[in-house]
Amino acid sequence: MARLVWLCFLSVALITLCRGDDRPNFVFLVADDLGTGDVGCFGNDTIRTPNIDRIAAKGAKLTQHLAAAAICTPSRAAFLTGRYPIRYGMAGRTAPLPFFLLSIPSGLPRSEVTFPQMARDHGYRTALLGKWHLGLNCAWAGDHCHHPSEFGFDYFYGLPHSNDHDCDPDVKETLGQNFARRLYRRLRLWEISTSLFVVILALKYFEYIQWKTVFLLSAFGWSLVAYPYVSLSNGRHLNCVLMRDDDVIEMPFNISTITPRMTLEAVKFLEERKTETKPFLLEVSYTNVHHALLPNKEFRGKSRHGLYGDSVEEMDWSIGVVMATLERLGLTDNTFVYFTSDNGGHIEAGEEGGSNGIYKGGKGQGGSEGGIRMPTVVQWPRKIKPGTVVTEATSQMDIFPTVADILKAPLPQDRVMDGRNILPLLGGAKQPSPHDFLFHYCADYLHAVRYRPREGNVTWKAHFVSYNWDPGTTGCYSLAICQCTGQGVTYNDPPLLYDVTNDPVEDRPISAASDPDVLNVIKKAVEEHKMSLTEVENQFGLSGYLPRPWLQECCNFPFCGCQENVDLSPLRIGG
Ligand SMILES: *[C@@H]1O[C@H](CO)[C@@H](O)[C@H](O)[C@H]1NC(C)=O
Ligand SMILES: *[C@@H]1O[C@H](CO)[C@@H](O)[C@H](O)[C@H]1NC(C)=O
Ligand SMILES: *[C@@H]1O[C@H](CO)[C@@H](O)[C@H](O)[C@H]1NC(C)=O
Repeated sequence: MARLVWLCFLSVALITLCRGDDRPNFVFLVADDLGTGDVGCFGNDTIRTPNIDRIAAKGAKLTQHLAAAAICTPSRAAFLTGRYPIRYGMAGRTAPLPFFLLSIPSGLPRSEVTFPQMARDHGYRTALLGKWHLGLNCAWAGDHCHHPSEFGFDYFYGLPHSNDHDCDPDVKETLGQNFARRLYRRLRLWEISTSLFVVILALKYFEYIQWKTVFLLSAFGWSLVAYPYVSLSNGRHLNCVLMRDDDVIEMPFNISTITPRMTLEAVKFLEERKTETKPFLLEVSYTNVHHALLPNKEFRGKSRHGLYGDSVEEMDWSIGVVMATLERLGLTDNTFVYFTSDNGGHIEAGEEGGSNGIYKGGKGQGGSEGGIRMPTVVQWPRKIKPGTVVTEATSQMDIFPTVADILKAPLPQDRVMDGRNILPLLGGAKQPSPHDFLFHYCADYLHAVRYRPREGNVTWKAHFVSYNWDPGTTGCYSLAICQCTGQGVTYNDPPLLYDVTNDPVEDRPISAASDPDVLNVIKKAVEEHKMSLTEVENQFGLSGYLPRPWLQECCNFPFCGCQENVDLSPLRIGG
């Protein structure tokens, strides 16, 4: 008897010991602004993406994987938190907005929990390489209250903000300069600030205030009125920042070497895992294929689609290096690899904005398939069969609960989680989407709703609001991006209804009269969804969106300029 007890004890101990090392690793690869139509395994036959295609072949391709927003900041927030951005003030305001400047106090609220945080709490070693774009500082430069390390990443090498148009050193007038010039002229901000200054001096002249007060008031006025101008007009120097953990290591960054440097960091991170017993979670958040399109010289002119195609191929090369490193280290079998994009291609940018395949619309259009249907592939040889195709509706918010299921970690109980576990679907289960409904937002406006009845095969989509596209197109070329409200949209009553299973292009609206039940069910779901939302601070409010000089990150003060020197030769880029 005693022997048996001992045997049992021993085997339990052994199982526990083995299990400790047996949990999978995670690699998340996230592209920026990449359209579904730009990837080989999603139908593109002229851009070469062999490494993304290989992930699909060895694992699963998700053909109806949806972003929670059609623009960077809210979409990335939803991916990490598993919740609609509207629940914590990150949806935007009125227009499809990302954070435009680095030196603002807004960001992902500290009360949000992310899945990397959950993994770290469960003993994972975590790292974020690349773009963050979810805020940085709250009260002063360096408090790093919205820094990736506050949201579960042990190591950060990348862009606290984003690579955007203004990071291109060769642009004559940047978007920020143009915008600042027009805004200040329209609101007469220079006239207002000059008048205020005259008033302050008059107060001093009549001895109502002292010099100290003159100085304080002027500094305050300057930072309120003039600093936004400085910040917008010097976008490249003030926003195009590269950090390692808490240190600024390059500003402005050299965009043409970012992807190779991130790749090198990824290889280093993976190699370091060899000597560690902890499992890991790595997110590589690419700057490709967002403007400025400045791929490394080894990729320029190599694709058939200009700088855009070159940038897609550069990213695919980097993914290949990451995958080859996993293979070399014997980690492929038990690593969950996920590739997606944060929002659809920016079709208004023409040739340089990419393609959303057969789908209408693109970046900014939270209600359009082209804005939110993301080219997504997942590989995990232990659990996912090669060649799996998931056609049911899934969401980027599902990653949180899916990772939780894999880790056997409980989900946060004090909040509504919008994501669902999609491990069964990835494992090949023939079952409907775990979502009865998905709500598609454009900024903080609900534009469309997806409904997947439990019976039958059809997924419905009701458009409450449609975009006023330029005639003959599915974009808003005159505005550069479609608006979410006002003159920019049409309110549909009754909503336009489509069967996106049989009509994914949404060419054939179904008459509301023929399916009143479907619309009634959807309307009821909208009411319930709205009831579940609570009043929160909007991170896109004017005050949170105003840049402050004391929030400006800087290296080499007061010059705010520095460079990182890295030897890229070990990568044999392009070879
Ligand atoms: C970026 O780095 C490349 C390669 O080192 C160099 O040739 C190029 O001049 C740099 N660009 C800028 C704007 O510094
Ligand atoms: C492949 O991508 C390029 C660049 O976005 C696009 O011009 C082309 O139409 C795409 N091809 C297909 C078949 O979708
Ligand atoms: C639903 O789809 C499956 C697989 O695509 C098919 O076998 C089945 O016949 C479909 N059922 C209906 C009701 O259309």
